[in-house]
Amino acid sequence: SKSYTVTLLPGDGIGPEVISVARNALQLIASIEGIEFKFKEMPMGGAALDLTGVPLPEETLSAAKDSDAVLLGAIGGYKWDNNEKHLKPETGLLQLREGLKVFANLRPATVLSQLVDASTLKREVAEGVDLMVVRELTGGIYFGKPRGFGTNENGQEIGFNTEVYATYEVVLLTKVYLTTGCEPLVFLTVNLLSQIDRIARVAFETARKRRGKLCSVDKANVLEASMLWRKRVMEIASEYPDVELSHMYVDNAAMQLVRNPKQFDTIVTNNIFGDILSDEASMITGSIGMLPSASLGESGPGLFEPIHGSAPDIAGQDKANPLATLLSAAMLLKYGLGEEKAAQRIEAAVLNTLDRGYRTGDIYSAGLKLVGCKEMGEEVLKSIDSKVTAI
Ligand code: NAD
Ligand code: IPM
Ligand code: MN
Repeated sequence: SKSYTVTLLPGDGIGPEVISVARNALQLIASIEGIEFKFKEMPMGGAALDLTGVPLPEETLSAAKDSDAVLLGAIGGYKWDNNEKHLKPETGLLQLREGLKVFANLRPATVLSQLVDASTLKREVAEGVDLMVVRELTGGIYFGKPRGFGTNENGQEIGFNTEVYATYEVVLLTKVYLTTGCEPLVFLTVNLLSQIDRIARVAFETARKRRGKLCSVDKANVLEASMLWRKRVMEIASEYPDVELSHMYVDNAAMQLVRNPKQFDTIVTNNIFGDILSDEASMITGSIGMLPSASLGESGPGLFEPIHGSAPDIAGQDKANPLATLLSAAMLLKYGLGEEKAAQRIEAAVLNTLDRGYRTGDIYSAGLKLVGCKEMGEEVLKSIDSKVTAI
């Protein structure tokens, strides 16, 4: 039987609570589908800081690289908020994304018919929304240099970052110290594939498989990095004449998402705009606790995680919605392992559990069954087990 190694990174806050649910679901799916999962749980984020002193231990990154797919809960929390930059849980997550080279982050926002009333938007606005944010994940202001935090020559405190996208990528900076004691040689390995071209291609391919509409979101009226972004996206568009391309400034896009979200099919945007717009899009669906994501590179294991964080305000209280993580596990099966049928089982079980009226607090409405994270997980397992979700 097929066997897959899956690295689980529970992380912090509600991370371990939602990963435990997803692990049980994957285990059950495996027994039904006749496949095998070898789970490797590794420390990450604040949990890793407490255990090893760094947010992404080498063992965790190498386990992730050596596996078939990686499933992450969430990282971060008050305890580590004032750590130095390199000792923040969030820095570990960025190192993980960079280390796995997962530049394409797919964040689908789908309004399920069962959850239309959980949306903060009116029924007629929310109903039927089905969009995909394609977020560039390993470039832009998150990684751009120069960056820094400190004091300038006038004694003033400064913090600064650089939003940069290039038509090449410096992949590796290796210092080779010659054993002879000579000056170190510096090798720059340059990847000639544009950071923008490759994410644009993923977005056009995604749009092609969906409803054939792509909206590129930028700030090309102000930012040079966006001017290059728009130029490259327009260039790549010539390879996809069947996809209808439009451009929108990010401020307008934020407004259009709540005015008329159904105008969107696929959205492609940079790292930071994608971060913000996907949280906004999540609320159309009822809760950030519903949104999964897949982060993919050109090769190697994908990284799968809910888009939400560690939710310190509800952590340890069995209140977290595990569905975003379960749906991320479904994306892991589909995009990471090519196990479409197993992925559909999870998706069908989530819908069936919602049909049976179970709701965590974030998606609760009157008359339904309010449950905690664990019980929601158990109900999804029952749905997986039952004939209802047989494909
Ligand atoms: P958050 O997403 O953790 O929480 C925002 C709000 O949404 C909170 O009220 C929270 O209770 C709620 N929420 C989030 N997930 C939920 C779920 N599954 N079920 C029910 N409610 C849920 O964002 P934040 O509060 O801005 O950040 C908290 C910490 O998480 C910070 O340290 C931040 O850096 C980190 N963070 C991590 C990730 C990640 O690991 N990928 C993502 C975002 C934020
Ligand atoms: C997310 C998070 C991360 C991001 C943080 C925690 C580094 O907000 O996954 O959306 O900004 O990408
Ligand atoms: Mn985010």
